[in-house]
Order: sequence, then C-alpha cells, then structure tokens
Amino acid sequence: MKKEWFESWFDTIYYHKLYNNRDNKEANFFILNLISYLKPNKSAKILDLACGKGRHSIILNKLGYNVLGVDLSPSNIQYANQYQNKNLRFAIHDMRKTIENESFNFIFNLFTSFGYFESKEENKNVLISINTMLENDGIIIIDFMNSKKIIANLIEKEVKIIDGIKYQISRKYDNNYIHKHIKINEKGSVKIYKERVQSLDQADFKKLLYECNFQIIDTFGDFKLSNFNEEKSDRLIIIAKKRTT
Ligand SMILES: C[S@@+](CC[C@H](N)C(=O)[O-])C[C@H]1O[C@@H](n2cnc3c(N)ncnc32)[C@H](O)[C@@H]1O
Repeated sequence: MKKEWFESWFDTIYYHKLYNNRDNKEANFFILNLISYLKPNKSAKILDLACGKGRHSIILNKLGYNVLGVDLSPSNIQYANQYQNKNLRFAIHDMRKTIENESFNFIFNLFTSFGYFESKEENKNVLISINTMLENDGIIIIDFMNSKKIIANLIEKEVKIIDGIKYQISRKYDNNYIHKHIKINEKGSVKIYKERVQSLDQADFKKLLYECNFQIIDTFGDFKLSNFNEEKSDRLIIIAKKRTT
C-alpha cells in the first residue's frame, strides 16, 4: 500500500536538514517558557505526541519530569532512543490511536504536528484519544502554525541549498490545506516529497476542542508566549483543559 506523505517525508534525513533551524535551542526556550507558565508538579507525567527526534521530551526530562515521547517515524524514534532513561521513554505510535494502559497530566503536540490527515473526523479521533489519555483536569498544549498569516504571506516558490543538497519548494493554498511540494536534488539524483497540512485556524481549533470535551484556557502567538494576534503572530499555541462535565 502507498505510504501517506507524513509517513515518508518525516522519516527522511532531508526533512531534518531542511528544518535544521528547528533545533534544541528553540525547543529549550519554548519548553522553559511553557513550564514556568504551566508549573507542573514534579510528579507530573507528560506525553510528547509526535515527538520527532525527541528535542522537547529530552528537555522536559532534564527538568525532572517523567516523559513518554511517541512518533510514527521509526528513524526518529531510533535516534531518540539513545536518550532513554528510567523517566524518559520513546515509542513508535500513531497519534490516531490511544496508548493503552497509560495516562498523563500533560500532553504536548508541538511544532505543527496536527492536521495531517484526509478528513476533519481524523482530527477529532486524535483529540478524543488525547482526552482519553489525560487525567481529570489534564492539559493539552497544541503548537500549530498561524494559518491565516501563512496564507496571507504565502511564498509560492523558494530554493534552498543546505549541505550541498538543493531543495526547490513550491507552496499552494486550496481552501482546506497548505500544500508544499519539495523537489530534492542531491548530486543529480532527484527525489520528490510533499507536505499537506490542514489550514486550521483559531476558530477551527475552538470548535474542535469544544466538541472533544476540552476547555481553552489560553492562546499564545509565539514561543515567548506573547498574546495571539491572527494577523501578526507566527504561531497559534493553544492551552486547553480536559472538561470533566
Ligand atoms: C513537524 S514534525 C514535529 C516533530 C517534533 N514535535 C518537533 O518539534 O521536533 C511532525 C512529527 O509528526 C510525526 N507524525 C506524523 N504523523 C504522525 C502520526 N500519525 N502519529 C504520530 N506521529 C506522527 C512525524 O513523524 C514528525 O516527527
């Protein structure tokens, strides 16, 4: 069966080279700000859902928390596993499914790790599964792109050369998705990948989270946790609590 775009692209070295600015320094800054805002108990259990190579999980664990990082990409998890310890575990897992026999006080879904799927129903499956895995009063943190700003400033064509590899990127918006077509030329050998992320905005998340039994507590617009502004903010960062009634 043909692989979905998110199964192939994120499992390549090219994704990590292209996004090499999304590094540990950025993760450290964001996590320190989030932790001083959320003030979790030292006994809190945290799930980093779609953890990539584990950059946020590793920092959370260094701060003393018990962390499970899960991701669909086998090579990401293989890489992250070198950092495992008794309070930091990693596993291959599809976020559309609930993790059996585990519950968490906080679930982090960071750096646009949402809205990859064909239907909006699948978004709900992810959020319902997150709700099931959260303890009462548990908190979800979603860090998504600010679709409105991205669409208003869409860069249609871009070329980047990183480590001698040429990336020709084309972007297009079609009402529901932001599509990215990535043509990679490495020493004459050409590979094509794509990204296709639903252009969810603040109103979409409000509706989705309400329908999946969450109450939004705060919305921020960047990793400093400044107020969200739909025209200006780079990120859409939503903090929501599991509703108990
Ligand atoms: C944009 S990256 C962000 C990774 C990480 N949160 C970070 O900030 O470095 C998105 C991640 O989502 C993972 N992913 C994609 N589809 C997934 C799924 N269905 N279940 C779990 N992880 C998935 C990818 O493998 C990739 O590592």
